[in-house]
Parts: sequence; structure tokens; C-alpha cells
Amino acid sequence: MPLLELREVGRQYRIGQIRIDALKDISLDVEQGEFVSIMGPSGCGKSTLLNVIGCLDLPTAGSYRLAGQDVSELTDNRLSELRNQFVGFIFQSFHLLSHLDALANVELPLVYRGLEGVERRRRAAAALEAVRLSDRRHHYPAQLSGGEQQRVAIARALVGEPAVILADEPTGALDSRSGQAVLDIFQELNRERALTIVQVSHDENIARRAHRIIRLLDGEVERQEVLQVQEAGQA
Ligand SMILES: Nc1ncnc2c1ncn2[C@@H]1O[C@H](COP(=O)(O)OP(=O)(O)O)[C@@H](O)[C@H]1O
Ligand SMILES: [Mg+2]
Repeated sequence: MPLLELREVGRQYRIGQIRIDALKDISLDVEQGEFVSIMGPSGCGKSTLLNVIGCLDLPTAGSYRLAGQDVSELTDNRLSELRNQFVGFIFQSFHLLSHLDALANVELPLVYRGLEGVERRRRAAAALEAVRLSDRRHHYPAQLSGGEQQRVAIARALVGEPAVILADEPTGALDSRSGQAVLDIFQELNRERALTIVQVSHDENIARRAHRIIRLLDGEVERQEVLQVQEAGQA
């Protein structure tokens, strides 16, 4: 069973009399352990697709299954539970809280899960270790470089042990060296933990570090390109 299964998914927005088909007839499977890049011009539906995959938005046509669960059958509460259990988000602008240090930012999703303090800090420290920022745990976001802030955001996405990381232009605000460092971490997490990753990128060099590139045009899959066969034992 694919981890993500989209069948003829559409997402239409209406603003007054105007209808916008942000996604049209998208059929797509992503297996557990895959690393996928989504590319395409501005406005082609990349963020909308990521939001549907992450259950931040629902399709207006077709069906979407996350880990076998048809999202259209769920109440809002079950949908946010599914999202919290399976999905970790990473954004271009990091979205860290400026008044919390790195460790406290990473702990935050576990506060919402009701974990007690010692266990929270243990897990947050392990997640910071995974992105090689143990020595920056008491730095505030303003005291970190952009690349380091994005690695804290990756640790925050990891700490809840999601099945899939969804990253919307994660290197868009970074210089190329910091961007490659983020991709080094994605590749390591993908290989060593069989973590599924779906990233949006404008940058061909960044996108090509995935197993597969999905190119969107006007809300549709224009074409797909397989770059590397998933390593044996990953799925
Ligand atoms: N909440 C919304 N309401 C109305 N239109 C939207 C909304 N979100 C996105 N759109 C429209 O849907 C299309 C796809 O947007 P988006 O997914 O953000 O594109 P991309 O991320 O590829 O730049 C665009 O034409 C955009 O204007
Ligand atoms: Mg976008």
C-alpha cells in the first residue's frame, strides 16, 4: 500500500464568480521511503498539492488516502490527529518562535501531545543531534544562521516521528551551501530511517537529489522523471 495515494485529485478555489482550478486530475502514488521533488512554475499548484498531501487542505474532487485512510471520510478532529501522527512540515521561512531557544522550539509539538518535560527534552535533544545542532540547543532563532534555523525546523518536524516530511521550498531562503546542507540531512534521514520526503523546489540541483521529480504545469502533472531507484530494503 502506498503511503500517499491520490486519485484524480482536484482542488478548486472560488472567489466570488471566479473559479480557480489549482489542481486538476492529479493521480499519484508515493511509497514509504521515497524521496520526491515537486517542481513547476510559480502558481502551478505546488503548495496546494503539498497542503492536500499534508491534510491542511482537502480535495474538492477525486480521492486522497494517507496511510490507507481516505481523508474525505474523517471529521476535522480525526484529520488533525492523522496530520499530527503522520506529517512533519517544513517551510521556506522556518516558522520558529523567536522567544524560544532551539530546544524549546523542537519540544513544542510534544507539548501539544501532552508529553512530560523530561521525556520531551530527551526527544528534542535527540532530534537536534540528528541535524547536528546539539551545540546550539540554547541559541534563540536570531542567534542562528538561516541554515541553522532551517535545521532546527527539521528537528521540530522530526521530533513527532512522522512518516512523511513535507517541505515547501525549504532551501528557498538559503545560500547554496546551506541549502545543500539541508539536503544532506534529508538524504541521510531518507536513507537511514526510510523517512518519506516530499519537497517543493525551484532549484534543479536541489530537486535532483531526490529519487523522482514530479513536474507540475497549470495544476496537472506534466511529466515525471525517475532519477535513482530506491535502495533495496528501504520501502
Ligand atoms: N486560498 C486560495 N484561494 C484562492 N486561490 C488560491 C488559494 N491558494 C492558491 N490559490 C491559487 O491557486 C493556484 C496555485 O497556487 P499555489 O499552489 O500556491 O502555487 P505554487 O505553490 O505552485 O506557486 C494559484 O493560481 C493561486 O493563486
Ligand atoms: Mg508555493
